[in-house]
Amino acid sequence: MTPTVADRTIAWSDDFLIGIEELDYEHRSLIEDINTLHRNLLEHRRASRIEDTLGKIHARMQAHFALEESVMLAGRYQHYQEHKAEHERLLDDYTEIMFAVAGNPELVDREDVGRRLCRWIVGHILNSDKKMSLLLAGGGPS
Ligand SMILES: [Fe+2]
Repeated sequence: MTPTVADRTIAWSDDFLIGIEELDYEHRSLIEDINTLHRNLLEHRRASRIEDTLGKIHARMQAHFALEESVMLAGRYQHYQEHKAEHERLLDDYTEIMFAVAGNPELVDREDVGRRLCRWIVGHILNSDKKMSLLLAGGGPS
């Protein structure tokens, strides 16, 4: 089954698994966090609560990307720089969203924020992270 971004949350599917256990575990947690955030946004939770969740996800994401980068370095991954640059773009994009929400929570299009976060985490795992794990395992095209 192909993973889907439902109206409100990301439906977990084994298609998200990339075969590197510690990264799979963290991806699942990250998706749960983003689902929680998406629900909080749509339920119009207090801005302070949204900011807490955004901050928690940011910290987790930084730690997760650092772990992924160490896995890539250890495996001498040939697309390391490209993948790391994508992590940096994702973090920049995320930070921008975080500041927009913190700066003016009432003006932010909450639905759009939730959708953007869902889309990019799903896209990154299914494309870049899967490609990385395949190539590290020696089983895919370069
Ligand atoms: Fe990644």
